[in-house]
Formats: sequence, C-alpha cells, structure tokens
Amino acid sequence: MATIQDRVPASNIKRIAVLTGGGDCPGLNAVIRAVTKDAINHGIEVYGIEDGFLGLVEDRIRPLSIDDVSNILTMGGTIIGSNNRSNPANFPVGKDKDGNTIFKDLTDVCVTHLQIRKIEALIVIGGDGTMSIAKQITDKGFNCIGIPKTIDNDLYGTDITFGFQTAVHIATEALDRVHSTAASHHRVMVVELMGRNAGWITLHAGLASGSDIILIPEIEFDLDKITEYCLWRSQRGKRFTIIAVSEGAKPKGGDQIVDRLVENSPEAIRLGGVAKWLAGEIEERTEIESRYVVLGHVQRGGTPTAGDRVLATQFGHHAMELLKMGLTNRLVVMQGGELGDVEITSAADKQRLVPKDHPLIAAARSVYTSFGD
Ligand code: F6P
Repeated sequence: MATIQDRVPASNIKRIAVLTGGGDCPGLNAVIRAVTKDAINHGIEVYGIEDGFLGLVEDRIRPLSIDDVSNILTMGGTIIGSNNRSNPANFPVGKDKDGNTIFKDLTDVCVTHLQIRKIEALIVIGGDGTMSIAKQITDKGFNCIGIPKTIDNDLYGTDITFGFQTAVHIATEALDRVHSTAASHHRVMVVELMGRNAGWITLHAGLASGSDIILIPEIEFDLDKITEYCLWRSQRGKRFTIIAVSEGAKPKGGDQIVDRLVENSPEAIRLGGVAKWLAGEIEERTEIESRYVVLGHVQRGGTPTAGDRVLATQFGHHAMELLKMGLTNRLVVMQGGELGDVEITSAADKQRLVPKDHPLIAAARSVYTSFGD
C-alpha cells in the first residue's frame, strides 16, 4: 500500500467526474461532498454522473457546485443516484426476433461521453462489482480512482468500507429490540442480516448485541447443534434465544437460499429466506415458538454514523490528493488504521470474507456464543 507522504504534487487536472455504483449505503453523500468541495477549493470542476454507469452510458452528466453538496453530509442515499443493474461492457440494447435480449459492449461510448466534456478522471464510489466495471474503463486508457463503499465490508484490499459501521449499528439496534420481545414470549427469534457472501455485519452486530447464536456464510452450520443449543438454553431457564443469521449462511453440505435473480446485474443473485426457513425448522424440531425478522434495506438507509462520516470524508479527500498528484487507477484503502491506496484492479472480482480464525469469532465463542458448528 502506498501513502500520500511518499509523493509530490504533479498534476494540473482541471475537470473530474464522480459516480456512485452498486447498492447505496450511508456515507455516499459525505464522499460526494468531500470530493466536490476539495476539488472546487483547488480550482477543479466536478461533474456528477446520474445513476451510476447507467447514466454514463446514457450521457446523463451534470456539473456539481458547492451549493449542490451543502447540507448533505448527514443524508443517507446518494444525491446523484445509483444503479446496480448496468454493466457498460454487457449492456442490453434490444431484443432479437426470438425475444432474446441483445447485449453490446458500450465501454467506448462511456469514455467518449467523458472525453467530449474534457473530463480527465472519474472517481468511482462502489464495491467489488463497481471496481470490476471501473477496470474496463481503465483498460481503455481512462483514469479511474476508486473509493470503497458497501455495507457488506467485503471489498478486497481495504480493512473497512464506509457504510459498514452504520449497517452494524442499525442491525445491533434491531437485535437489541428483538431481545425484549423474545424474552417476554419465550421464543426463538431469528434475525436475517445482509452481507451477501460475507458475514461481517452479522459477526459484528451479533457480538455487539450478545446474540446467542451467530450464523455466517464462512462457517457452515449444523441444524442439530442449533436446536440442541436452543433446548439447552431453555433447560437452563433462559427461555428465549436470539439468532443473528447472515442472508448467505448455509447448512453443512447445503446451499444458500436464493430469493431472486436480477437480470443484467453484475451480481445477479439476491440472497434471502434463510431466517424464515430456520425459524420453521427450529419450531418443528424443538416445539419452542419461533419467529423471524428480515431487516433488509433498513440496513442501507438513513444517516451515517459519525465513524462513517469521518471515513467517507477521509476517503474523498485522499482520492482528490491522488488526482492532484497525477496518479492514475488507484483504489483508496484503509489498512491497519492507515489511509493509503492500491492498484484499482486489485479489488476487482475478489471478496474479503471473514477468516475462520478471526479474533472476533474467538471473542464471541468465549462468551458462549454458538456459531452453529
Ligand atoms: O451489497 C449490498 C447489499 O445490500 C447486500 O448486502 C444485499 O445482498 C444486496 O445488496 C441487495 O441488493 P438489492 O438492493 O439489489 O436488493
């Protein structure tokens, strides 16, 4: 990882653009604000691309002013819109005579839309899917600087993405709330959390809320172990059990539960349904009344936590420093508490999953939390 201290200012960049790709998350506006204010402060014009790469294909690009980004630090979502269904390299352009969708590579069109406006670099704020698309643009010789976002915290190369801390906070609060109702009714409550194939949100929120069982995709669970644990708690007089489960968790030798497939999306699979299935199985096997909650997009909404606002502002500033120094195709990262950057390509098509020997897993086990294994 390279840091700013190693470098000397060397660029005369005059115009940049920014886009937010993939699913939204708290802190996107904080980055847009940081980038725009820093740029304008240094005489650099900023354009916002609407709805991620879809807006780039469709040439929906507009200038951003200081006024546009005032009062957005605490706002959830993204003022320029996002989209997680458009890949310019595989873009639907119509149907053939049999009704099949025809796809075309429109990456060149994207680059042309930027060049016509004399835009010299693109700041892409996104997760692994967005960085993979950014790689296609950099392959055409256009400079992209990546900023890592996702509530899932699964972007390779950085210890943390902004949006994650807020999602953990929301998930923890939900688990805390479920606690009292579970205790009152002596029930098993299963709370399904997002994260795709990574269990970071569930691990952190499960630990923070003192959930009795934490189920993450990285550790396959054994249904018998889960039911034994619920019964053991009942026998000890603890007449309720809280289970935090990742949408991507799966039983030993089994499969993840897929909710839907989204056509044209760089990541077509949408997971969902494991909490409903688990609650049903547990009730049938233990005769303890069980309920489930799917927290869903609540985890992506609303105002970012202080930690995410700080991180987002740091990331935005670092991206601008890189551009002012004339650097190309970098991804802003946080490693070991230090802000720096790596090759943007290093994050494409990879996922950062929870290692089975992660210290938080050991800490959770030490307070009798089960991982269902
Ligand atoms: O990647 C962020 C995320 O919220 C995942 O945790 C979740 O699986 C997915 O996006 C949901 O996607 P969509 O917003 O398309 O339903």
